[in-house]
Amino acid sequence: MPHRAFSHELVDRLARAQHVAALTGAGISAESGIPTFRDPGGLWEQFKPEELANVQAFLRNPKLVQAWYTHRRNVALEKAPNPGHKALVELEGLVPDFLLITQNVDHLHQRAGSKRMAELHGNITRSYCIDCGKTATEQEMTPIASGGVAQCSACGGYIRPDVVWFGEMLPEGVMEWAGEAAQRAEVFLSIGTSAVVYPAAGLPLLAKEGGAYVAEINIEASAIAGYVDEVVLGKAGEVLPALVQAVREKRA
Ligand code: OAD
Repeated sequence: MPHRAFSHELVDRLARAQHVAALTGAGISAESGIPTFRDPGGLWEQFKPEELANVQAFLRNPKLVQAWYTHRRNVALEKAPNPGHKALVELEGLVPDFLLITQNVDHLHQRAGSKRMAELHGNITRSYCIDCGKTATEQEMTPIASGGVAQCSACGGYIRPDVVWFGEMLPEGVMEWAGEAAQRAEVFLSIGTSAVVYPAAGLPLLAKEGGAYVAEINIEASAIAGYVDEVVLGKAGEVLPALVQAVREKRA
């Protein structure tokens, strides 16, 4: 049953827990001004994933795909972490074993100060050569700004963003790390994600199977809302600071 406020049970459990994991999606960055994927006006309404977010599209038109990701990277760098990101940094400091698992590539969690993080879908601030794998330098990226193509200075290969595209595997080991944290979590938070993209969307369910109390924080019920213990309806940037403050007071 969705609620507008979080329960005492959630606060108590978080205050007692040694092991907590949180999964975030685009919704946590919405209040920073970064569009989500599936909400009205979201990125997948304006751009088709099959035209931009896969390797075939990139090889067909590297200039277009590089320009789109550079635009998204610049937008992300112009925005600032919001109170939701900051509350998760504080929660990390309160819980002995805390893992933040994110589907976001916008680097806002890192800029807020989160340290223990599993980046499931990569990070838009990094790029590498599709042929030799060398990490790209800012210098190599400069042609994009004037409508050119960024190529590797070592081998001439096209430079791609370090993000996971449709049809690609997640970075090695990251899903295993996230899965283990979900399984040992006493409390699992699913925040600002529509929970439709797997394997990430399976993590709250894995946590539930492992015995965790699973709470969702979202402005509307997601695809997994029916399977979790508690749905808190609200903006992550408002719910999380209040929740973490309540947990801090209880832990003190
Ligand atoms: P979506 O755009 O699918 O979902 C965003 C979710 O955030 C929705 O459930 C919204 O209701 C919720 N939301 C919006 N504003 C919010 C707020 N202020 N507070 C809390 N919740 C809010 O984004 P993701 O679930 O992150 O993958 O999408 C998952 C993956 O699909 C992305 O990582 C990306 C995309 O294809 C890849 O690029 C591989």
